[in-house]
This record gives sequence, structure tokens and C-alpha cells, in this order.
Amino acid sequence: MTPTFSSGWLAVREPEDARARSTALAEALASQVHGAPIIAHDLGSGTGSMMRWLAPMLPGPQSWHLHDRDARLLRRVAGAPRPVDDDGSVVSVSTHVGALDDLGPEDLRGASLITASALLDVLTEDELRAVVSRCVAASAPVLFALTVTGDVAVTPADPLDDDLRAAFNAHQQRAHAGVPLLGPTAVDRARALFDRAGWEVRVADTPWRLGGHAPRLLAEWLAGWTDAAVEQGPQLQSAAAGYRARRTAQARAGALSVDVHHRDLMAWPR
Ligand SMILES: C[S@@+](CC[C@H](N)C(=O)[O-])C[C@H]1O[C@@H](n2cnc3c(N)ncnc32)[C@H](O)[C@@H]1O
Repeated sequence: MTPTFSSGWLAVREPEDARARSTALAEALASQVHGAPIIAHDLGSGTGSMMRWLAPMLPGPQSWHLHDRDARLLRRVAGAPRPVDDDGSVVSVSTHVGALDDLGPEDLRGASLITASALLDVLTEDELRAVVSRCVAASAPVLFALTVTGDVAVTPADPLDDDLRAAFNAHQQRAHAGVPLLGPTAVDRARALFDRAGWEVRVADTPWRLGGHAPRLLAEWLAGWTDAAVEQGPQLQSAAAGYRARRTAQARAGALSVDVHHRDLMAWPR
């Protein structure tokens, strides 16, 4: 079964995603984009969080094409307010349901830029290869934001942190239909594929810094992190229940902070 994502989870993470993504790489991307209108393709778009973040940093007119295999998430795009460009004009948006490895050469033809956010770690090696080869064929600069690195720093430290982190990271690379997901290896794999194509690559660290300012995201992240670790290592179940109770009490007291590390990758043809 392929992983699915609820619109509720995507909405809860959107403000911290926006804070975390690299504006330096977004500016570098903007400097590579010439001509009008800007034709932007967002891969694994969900409800359009990446577009809402990036569109206001780019000049208009802009035409965004959102690609996702989850039609439920794409339907939410129609009901959401349209983002605006850097001049305050509304951008145009279309949605396309389908798997990314089924994108044909025509689908990205004429792209000015290609983006993704929180996507690479949930792809398989074959899906990533297909995505990179389509981007290379389109010859448009790409910005792939917020790929997990597997590093999580929880403060204060707890004796169970390391076991849960190891089980969660193994869960991230679990097999779907017999094929493992890339999980924390995804940025290095993407970098290697763009290097091999002769493209320039820049990477930036873009951690979530969770604490009292984002109590709901912190609570949902903690639940998801421990549940996934227990699914991977059922022997952790009772210890993880105690861990979650301790961490929840610390969060309620404003005494818990978590850094969840990600990296953004920008690549462009030389
Ligand atoms: C973690 S969500 C991120 C969504 C959105 N980019 C955001 O930041 O809110 C990953 C998204 O990628 C989509 N996705 C994952 N693998 C895909 C594939 N092979 N083809 C098409 N969409 C895919 C999922 O349906 C989901 O919407």
C-alpha cells in the first residue's frame, strides 16, 4: 500500500514548512527564471502548500500546474484562496491527477521551474529516477524542499530517543509492494542523479523547530513518530507509551523542543 497523507496533517504542518524552507534557495531559483508567464509545475503538490509559499516571491504572470496521485487532496486546491504573485495579482492554477512516474515528456514541456515539497523521501528509487529524468528533459531549474534527513533532536534528552529514532528511520525506508522508499537517503540520491546529468546542485538545511509556538504540530508529530516506530518495532510498544506520556507532559509544561531536520535541494542545468 502506498503512503497517503491527510489534508488535516498537511494543513497543520504548512506554517512550519513555510518558516523552514530556504528563502535563499527560493531567491536563487527566482534569479534563474526569465520570461513571462512563469510556468511552474509542483510535483506531489498535495493541497498546494509549496505554491502558496513560493508564488508571492516570484513575478507574475504565473501559471501553476499541481501534480499528485491523490485526487482528494487536489480537490481541496479549488476551494482554497488563490495565491498571489509578488505584485499581488492572482496566479492561475490547474490540477493533474496521476503518478509522477507516469509523467510524459509533454507534461513538463515549457516549464520555467519545477518544485516539490516533502516529497522525495516518500518516493522509491525508480520514482525518483523518473522524476529527475523528466526534470532534466524539461531543462528547468528545480527546487525540492523539505526532505527528511532522519536527524531528530529532542530536548531534554530521554533514554528511549535513540531506539525510537532508529525504528522510525527504518520505517521511513519500509517496502511498499516489495520496493523500499528512499526515506532519509533521498537527498543524497537526488543529488547524485542531478550530478550525473551534469547539473549544478545546492543544498540547504531547513529544520522544523518545534516547541510551544506550534503545540498541535508538536503533538501530531510526536504521535506520528512514536506510532511509526512501534509499527516498525512492536517490541517498543509499552516503552513508547510511557515515552509519549512523558513527552506530552513536557510539551504541556512548555518544556519540550524538537528539531526535525530536513534539507532543500535546488538543481539547474549548467
Ligand atoms: C508529504 S505529502 C506533501 C504534500 C505537499 N507537497 C505539501 O508540502 O503539503 C506528499 C505528497 O506527494 C504525493 N505523492 C507521493 N508519491 C507520489 C507519486 N509517486 N506520484 C504522485 N504523487 C505522489 C502524495 O499523494 C502527497 O500528496
